[in-house]
Amino acid sequence: METFYVTTPIYYVNAKPHIGTAYTTIVADIIARWKRLEGKEVFFLTGTDEHGTKIERAAAAAGKTPQTFVDEISSEFMNTWKPLNISYDKFIRTTDERHIITVNEFLDKLWDNGDIYKGTYEGWYCVPDETFITDTDLKDGNCPSCGREVQRVKEEAYFFALSRYKEDLLQLYSDNPYFIYPESKLKEIRGRLKDNLKDLDITRKGVKWGIPFKFDPEHTIYVWFDALLNYISALGWPNDESFNKFWPVDVHVVGKDIIWFHAVVWPAMLMSAGIDMPKLILAHGWWTVNGTKMSKSLGNVIDPIEMAKKYGADALRYFLIKEKPVWEDGDFSENALVSRINGELMSDLSNLVARTLTLAEKFDGKLKYNEGFSDNLDMTQIVSKFDSYNLSGALEDIWSFVRRTNKYINDNEPWKLNGEKLLIVLNDALEALRIISILIYSFMPETAENLSQQLGLKLGKIDDCKFGEFNGKVKRGKNLFEKVKN
Ligand code: MSP
Repeated sequence: METFYVTTPIYYVNAKPHIGTAYTTIVADIIARWKRLEGKEVFFLTGTDEHGTKIERAAAAAGKTPQTFVDEISSEFMNTWKPLNISYDKFIRTTDERHIITVNEFLDKLWDNGDIYKGTYEGWYCVPDETFITDTDLKDGNCPSCGREVQRVKEEAYFFALSRYKEDLLQLYSDNPYFIYPESKLKEIRGRLKDNLKDLDITRKGVKWGIPFKFDPEHTIYVWFDALLNYISALGWPNDESFNKFWPVDVHVVGKDIIWFHAVVWPAMLMSAGIDMPKLILAHGWWTVNGTKMSKSLGNVIDPIEMAKKYGADALRYFLIKEKPVWEDGDFSENALVSRINGELMSDLSNLVARTLTLAEKFDGKLKYNEGFSDNLDMTQIVSKFDSYNLSGALEDIWSFVRRTNKYINDNEPWKLNGEKLLIVLNDALEALRIISILIYSFMPETAENLSQQLGLKLGKIDDCKFGEFNGKVKRGKNLFEKVKN
């Protein structure tokens, strides 16, 4: 069976899940579910990033030991994903014993290659982002990524010889023009890399909450170096069978802020250890809230669980994907969410299902397949949009099909028909709903299951998205969506 490996970044446990981290995870989940429906054996990985100064400080502020603190927040992440219908196969934590074994074995390889050396780090450090920053990269004296204050650091440290991989990285990008999606980000990275690729400080002396650096226990491993390795420790690198089965990863889903680590540092680390390259880094845009940057201090952080409780996880998932192309930024507002529920989910889909099934339930006979209406579905286009991770585009096409089915019913008024014409129109409509249940599954899994149950069928696979003779035993059930008051 063909395999497919998809990952999310592992989330820092200094804060609870919010709409941004939920978005990354939902995008990965949609890809995972779609690939499963294509018949692939999928491994979908998510987890938590639990070391470093930021976590140490957050634990101290909460009056807890780091371990108690990370245990609590990590389980909060696990509990968030279930109600959002996230179907991960493994949840990795960087405090897992197995992860630490991989980190140490990986270090051995790099050490033996001569890619690790001792030096002095002098520069800036942004604690919230856990990132080292050079003088030239500072923006108005602050962190170029988050704009917050940075600290001056000068200390003995061990370095990874990242700069040695400059030419190999450039070659990797030339050989794989789609290594980073969208392409514009690849150009940006290529430019930055040409101008400025320095060796990377991979240990810290002052940080206690980290994996001890085996070659010099006064140091702990820099949290990003440890974190990136989750993608292979989760597969039990180097010895486990699942590593051979699923590596190289098909897609790392990441936010646009962490592309550098995934498209530069990570491939170079893998090159040094002689491990195959990831196939693709999918970089998504960020969400603002009612036009403003989301932040704790502004008190506008959106809790995805609260939204899912209020509107349903599927409606939230639908909104997040339909509202913007994956790689662009977008704005979250409850009004926009409600208007998509009342418009697209209620009027287009839920009503279509209710009307068709009310009629079909009364009908007890053999339906008839007739070519014609099936031309309204362009599966090649939907699949190709999916393959290029244009999720909003694929959903848009699926919705055009929903609307065309609606129009077909309005135009044909099957409730007024009888004879052969009725058998054909009803068959078309039910077949369309069966196919819609498959197509919407990865976006809205609960809704898809509900629909296919009402159609009296087991949910199909992508290969089943072809018209034929409908053979379910229809039984109307709960409306897919209800109107929401604004
Ligand atoms: N721990 C690192 C990742 C290590 S992966 C080896 C990290 N964690 S994070 O918790 O800060 O962020 C995780 C993800 O959430 C990133 O992909 C980031 O882009 C995403 N988002 C955080 N805020 C966001 C928005 N406001 N909007 C969309 N996504 C955002 O970075």
